[in-house]
Amino acid sequence: MDPVRNPYAPGAGQRPPELAGRDRELQQFEVVLERVARGRPERSMVVTGLRGVGKTVLLNTFKSMAMQRLWGTGKIEARPDQSIRRPVAAALHMAIRELAPRHRAPERIEEFLGVLKAFAMRDPAAAKGTSHWSPGIEVPASRGRADSGDLEIDLTELFVDAASVATDLGVGIALFIDEMQDVQAADVSALCAACHELSQSGGPLIVVGAGLPHLPSVLSASKSYSERLFRYARIDKLDRDAADLALILPAREEEVEFTQDALDALYEAADGYPYFVQAYGKVAWDLAPRSPITLDDVKVSAPEAEEELAVGFFGSRYERATPAERDYMHAMAQIGDEPVPTAEVADALGRKPSSLSPARDSLIKKGLIYSAERGLIAFTVPHFGRFLRAQPI
Ligand SMILES: Nc1ncnc2c1ncn2[C@@H]1O[C@H](COP(=O)(O)OP(=O)(O)OP(=O)(O)O)[C@@H](O)[C@H]1O
Ligand SMILES: [Mg+2]
Repeated sequence: MDPVRNPYAPGAGQRPPELAGRDRELQQFEVVLERVARGRPERSMVVTGLRGVGKTVLLNTFKSMAMQRLWGTGKIEARPDQSIRRPVAAALHMAIRELAPRHRAPERIEEFLGVLKAFAMRDPAAAKGTSHWSPGIEVPASRGRADSGDLEIDLTELFVDAASVATDLGVGIALFIDEMQDVQAADVSALCAACHELSQSGGPLIVVGAGLPHLPSVLSASKSYSERLFRYARIDKLDRDAADLALILPAREEEVEFTQDALDALYEAADGYPYFVQAYGKVAWDLAPRSPITLDDVKVSAPEAEEELAVGFFGSRYERATPAERDYMHAMAQIGDEPVPTAEVADALGRKPSSLSPARDSLIKKGLIYSAERGLIAFTVPHFGRFLRAQPI
């Protein structure tokens, strides 16, 4: 059928035509926004899940919800090799720019921008003169606030000031952090401490995160009270009804239907994982001659969808691993699809567990595997074991 009208959207952070099966998380976030705006004590939210389950999409939806309530919003994507100081400064700059036109006292905005600039300029790279980066803020940097160089103190002061600007307008500020497991350890600790301070003062600023399933343990390793700061929402594959709706509703908009056995086969193939639902749906649409999309259409299109996934979804990640890391992952895949004991991986490779730590740690850093619980390791990418078993070693 007409590929131009194809509604499905496989891709990183691609907004799906129908955000299926996430009503509970959306409702929870509504409540968070409402309570924070009213100065009620409330835990912020952190979304966790495997690759391709829709964390980024959900975070973007939360951001839209906050913007609809006229909140100031900003978003960053954490990177393991980068301090969050500059990205946070840029994100709060965006948030304040959203609020500024509605604020009655321009000098309050200017005052905040001066603090924000001072905060941004304390970046270690800028201090060493190794960077010509400038925060793009016109006002002169102020002195004596958020510029101590200690990120915990500086973030706390910055957040308090930002929250106070939002309070003037009766709204809040939401700072979104994607790939939050990649925030450097020292920065995680500073971030949690700043959120903790802020939650005690009731200031309307929240940090909303998304990351891989081990994010809660990253946060609690840094600050034991992190569980009281964040409500963890683990999102997973869609159940049968939601997966069907994700396919049916966008098609219906285009007056296209699926036969029941086509839906059965699509669910079997995609296993409810949102990325796979979009990928199989997209190819089935393109190859089906007419509505309804039938079981035969799905059968004909599945190999092409699998091929695309093998290259784009699995292959691109596999490519990032070194030969030693690949061996490690192949050994994991041979053991099984559930989280596997690291000791068993070492056994399978005939190695001492300690000698494999570098490979394991760098795979974790690359976001390909995560430590499910102590001594257990699992793939972050759904169906990755199956993909590896089909690869020649
Ligand atoms: N609730 C949903 N219903 C239908 N499709 C969805 C849903 N959530 C996400 N998708 C689709 O799944 C794909 C992956 O979404 P997204 O990039 O948000 O995943 P992610 O969890 O952030 O993955 P990664 O860990 O790789 O960053 C996108 O193509 C998106 O359109
Ligand atoms: Mg993402």
